[in-house]
Amino acid sequence: MGYELWEKSLRELVRDVPWPVANLANASAFIFETVERLNWAGFYLVRQKESGETLLVLGPFQGRPACIEIPWGRGVCGTAAAQDRPLKVDDVHEFPGHIACDVASASEVVIPLHGKDGEVIGVLDLDSPEKARFTEEDLEGLIRFARVIEESL
Ligand code: SME
Repeated sequence: MGYELWEKSLRELVRDVPWPVANLANASAFIFETVERLNWAGFYLVRQKESGETLLVLGPFQGRPACIEIPWGRGVCGTAAAQDRPLKVDDVHEFPGHIACDVASASEVVIPLHGKDGEVIGVLDLDSPEKARFTEEDLEGLIRFARVIEESL
């Protein structure tokens, strides 16, 4: 499926649904169904502990059970969130501090999601068992996809 059609299908899926968790759940299922060669697709959401510490907490996803908490600035997800920039990692084993939730993961894309005021509220995370699975075109398509998800939250 081309990214344009893909984005349109997602828009239809989340349109006028007032339940963020439902939209994140369907978005992760949609990605996992339609993007080939993935072993994990889902979301981590920004949360605060009672101590005030900011972290990422596991949200809706498809794939194997995953790490529940990711410290801010740690791993691919925590780094993308803290630096507020998309990350495409061709070989996760080369990424300093990579958190291996599933040993099968070899490459990864993480895209920050933003709230209405532009603040980072979570990340979209895709893992593949293939090294260098994601192209620049994939990254661009997934960034557009993330914008649609943000609007639905
Ligand atoms: N590998 C990620 C952790 C999340 S799992 O891939 C689902 C990371 O380094 O942030």
